[in-house]
Formats: sequence, structure tokens, C-alpha cells
Amino acid sequence: MDDLTRQIEALREDARMRLAEASEGDAVDRLRSDLLGRSGQLTGLLRQLASVPAEERPAVGQLANVVRRELDEAIEARLATLRHGDLETRLGSEAIDMSAPGRPLRVGHLHPVQTLIRDLREVFHAYGFEVFEGPEVETEEFNFELLNIGVDHPSRDLWDTLYVAEPGSVESGEARPASDGTILRTHTSPVQVRAMHALEPPIRVLMPGRCFRYEAVDASHGFEFFQVEGLVIDRDTSLADLKGMLEEIARALYGADVRTRFRPGYYPFTEPSVAFDIGCLVCGGSGCPACSRSGWMTILGAGMVHPDVIRNGGYDPDEYQGYAFGMGPDRMTMLRHGIGDIRLLFSADLRFLMQFAEGR
Ligand code: PHE
Repeated sequence: MDDLTRQIEALREDARMRLAEASEGDAVDRLRSDLLGRSGQLTGLLRQLASVPAEERPAVGQLANVVRRELDEAIEARLATLRHGDLETRLGSEAIDMSAPGRPLRVGHLHPVQTLIRDLREVFHAYGFEVFEGPEVETEEFNFELLNIGVDHPSRDLWDTLYVAEPGSVESGEARPASDGTILRTHTSPVQVRAMHALEPPIRVLMPGRCFRYEAVDASHGFEFFQVEGLVIDRDTSLADLKGMLEEIARALYGADVRTRFRPGYYPFTEPSVAFDIGCLVCGGSGCPACSRSGWMTILGAGMVHPDVIRNGGYDPDEYQGYAFGMGPDRMTMLRHGIGDIRLLFSADLRFLMQFAEGR
């Protein structure tokens, strides 16, 4: 082996060691110009190529080129390692222990009233009811007039209904009801008429939603509460259908042993009207404070839809009849869980609400 070849080989070894020792990008850059730069060591060796005998020149030249490429690649690799860290080391430090148990997530749950409403939706779904929703901000026309509740009816009193104020009238200190008759709905019954306008018979709809009344708040009254309204409109429906269905639904919700009864009732928008009671779940019917010692609890009002309301819905009462009912899911939730004060349901107190985490 001639002298130049030996020098190139020696440079290759030396360069590898120096490169491994270079621990900063700057040192590597310096090494690069030391070795491969214009006046670098390898460049200097190549200049001596002219003194090599002509027949050996190609082999030596080729070796020099190989070494140049090798060093070039090694320098790039070293720079990359210094920039990003050694892959092995990084993988080691970032390793995830796949066998570690997961951290438990705190999962929320439905409010107990919403759970009850969902159960109602499920039970009525089996009877072919679909859900139809109406607005919480209503007009007097839908909330009262179209339901046969005349202008003189006491429930329309300012002391019962929350009226939306006429714009500007609050600031002037003389708040008065908006002239367009905007109110917060006092029940979900206006959605009956909206459903009749929007759908074609046969109609079977469940209409859940929030309602508002100007009430003094106490253990059994809130100024906001929920109702779930039901409506069936068809050519041939009867009170017997309503009765049979409600009895079945009471059994589905409260168990096969539940006792039920119908009492006569009165609503301007149903005729005849009934109240539907179930045997008190707290005392089993013997009488207790929860049922005012009567042994019964009223869970809904119902009746055959008044012919005027059918007409207001756009149908001929001689052709179509139907029944409607309105349930109180707040009351039903209190019954279900033995809750004594309705204010707890609207308090957003997590200590109270967390108790219902298991309640599906
Ligand atoms: N809207 C009535 C109420 O708020 C309940 C009801 C609904 C009665 C449908 C009959 C039919 O008390």
C-alpha cells in the first residue's frame, strides 16, 4: 500500500473518533471544515494525488471519494443526533407503561327530572308517540285563546302568568305587558295546537318542556317546572283508549301492583276532563303527609280534546277526535325518590344531584 493510501485510511479513523467526541453542533461544523474544507486535511491529501504513479491513481482517487462521502454522511448524522437527541435515548425516556391502570374519569349524569322524562319518552315510544317540542316563550293566543281560555279567565291574571314587558316600559319604571302578548308559557298545552298545525292526523305526540308561573316559591311550588304533554288526534279515539293506556303506563313506571283511579276534573280545553291518581307510594294508600292523608297522588290531568281546540288546530271536530294529557315530571320525580322539597330539584346543588348518579 502506498503512502497516500495509508494517510487517507488514517484520516478516516481519526475523523471518526473526533466526530464521536464532538458534542455540540459548532464543534461538528469546525471538524467539517478541518477535514473537507478548501484547505482541509482530505483536500490537502487529494492535492498530492498528482505525485502518485499513474497506474495507482484511479484506485487512490476512488478511495478518497468514498472517504469524503462517508465523512459527509457521518457529519450530517452526527448533527441530526445532536439536534434531536439520540433516538434510543428519546424512546427510552418517552416510554408509556401500557399496563398502568387508567385514571378514572368523572362522568356526569342526567338530572333526575330529565331521567324521568327520558323514561316517559321510552314508555310512550312503545305506544307510537313521537316527540314534538314548542317554544318556552309563547303568545297569549297559543297559551290561552286557542285553548278556549277566555280573556276573563283568572289564570291570565298578572299574578299568575309571567308576561314579557313592553320594550322600554321597564326603564321608564312603569313595566307593562308587551302589546304583542308575549308571555312565558304557563303549561305545555299550547304545543297541542302547534302540533296540529304542523302534523297530519293520525297524530300521536309527546311534548316535554319547561313552563313558568308567577308563583310564591315553597316546598311544592316553583316558578319554573316541567310538564310532559301528550296528544292523540285520530278519526276514532275515545276516553276508553286514554284510560287503558294511562293504566298501562302507570304500571310500566311504578310497577304492576300500582293502584290507579280517575276522578272528574275541569279544563277549558278538554271535555270531559279527568284527573289521574296513583295510590300513594310513600304510605301504600293508608294516608300520610305526602298524600295529604288521602292515600292518592295526582300525577296528571287529561281529557278528550275540546271541539273548539280541534277546530283551532285546523280540523273538523265531526271528523276528528282526540285526547290530551299533561303530566308533572317534577312531582313524579319527587314520588319516585321520596324527595320532600321541589326547590332541591332546581337548586343545582351538586351534593344533592350526585345522589342520583346510579339512577341510570
Ligand atoms: N295544561 C294542564 C295544566 O297545566 C294539564 C292538562 C293537559 C290537562 C292536557 C288536560 C289535558 O294543568
